[in-house]
Amino acid sequence: MVLGLESSCDETAAAVVTAEGDILSNIVLSQTEEHAPFGGVVPEIAARAHVTQMDRLVGLAMNKAGIGYDDLSAVAATAGPGLIGGVLVGLMTAKAIAVVAEAPLIGVNHLEGHALTARLTDKVAFPYLLLLVSGGHSQLLIVEGVGKYRRLGTTIDDAVGEAFDKTAKMLDLGFPGGPAVERWAAKGNADRFDLPRPLKGREGCNFSFSGLKTAVRQTREKLGPAATDQDIADLAASFQKAAVDSLMDRVANALDQFAEVTPSGGTLVVAGGVAANRYLKENLEIQTAARGVRLVVPPAKLCTDNGAMIAWAGLERFRLGLTDPLDLAARARWPLDPDAKPAPFAGYKA
Ligand code: KG4
Ligand code: ZN
Repeated sequence: MVLGLESSCDETAAAVVTAEGDILSNIVLSQTEEHAPFGGVVPEIAARAHVTQMDRLVGLAMNKAGIGYDDLSAVAATAGPGLIGGVLVGLMTAKAIAVVAEAPLIGVNHLEGHALTARLTDKVAFPYLLLLVSGGHSQLLIVEGVGKYRRLGTTIDDAVGEAFDKTAKMLDLGFPGGPAVERWAAKGNADRFDLPRPLKGREGCNFSFSGLKTAVRQTREKLGPAATDQDIADLAASFQKAAVDSLMDRVANALDQFAEVTPSGGTLVVAGGVAANRYLKENLEIQTAARGVRLVVPPAKLCTDNGAMIAWAGLERFRLGLTDPLDLAARARWPLDPDAKPAPFAGYKA
């Protein structure tokens, strides 16, 4: 069994997963309250919170699993990409445990953790198409095997979860924004405001959300201080529809490209926090059903950041003998597909 640590963003997490894929413990501590006053994740606050909590969470995860450090076949931790101060906390903790337990260290790419979760939950076989939509990333990838990814598209500016969070902030709906926007959107008229669908109808599978964000801001400003709750709900619904429309257009192009690799339908896997959005899921269900593609959306608890996905990715790598030296460096940027062209304004999100 493998212990997996995650600390690349605003969740401190530790989990123990067996080689058979049983999750013995999966403890996630969200820092939502620490960041809420700022309406977004503050890197320094995140790093300090990881330092304060990580040891305790490891203890909890080991206790809940009912195992000792000697029982571990390996210790896995996110080694990037993400907020470097946080990544260092999890990776250094994993190194210390690996030394004491005399178990190999496995540095996991956080995105690979998301990418392989569907194999833990649904035993999905390679290759499959992955839509990764979170607060930090928006990507479409063909997952060919452990460590083998072909990126079809990425965001050229903001991630889609970030667009939900920023919309929530502009509309004063609270943090984290995604679930709040979805709640308000349920009460609104999605056709009231004509917002842009970035890159819709264009070639390729890249994403862009900054233009949509600007349009939401301008619409909010036009509504002025007299905006009613109904106005806000209509704007939230119009934003959600535009964001999902834009995603669906990109997914359609990716499914076309994927069909060349897997003519017999294949599987589309969705990962990342935005996978919890019901409107997105309904649209994906319609699109995949029409094409005879299987849709796999792991439970929300395993789609958002957690330690089990890191432990599982660690297990997949361990099976292939892919362990790491103790001087492994943390990486702020770490694309899954090193051959993909860098996206100029996306930073570590690409
Ligand atoms: O995967 P995750 O937990 O962390 C990152 O790696 O970023 O994703 C968090 C993101 C946030 O931006 C949050 O607003 C978004 O996922 N999110 C949602 C929903 N639930 C979470 N976005 C839209 N609708 C939701 N129901
Ligand atoms: Zn994530």
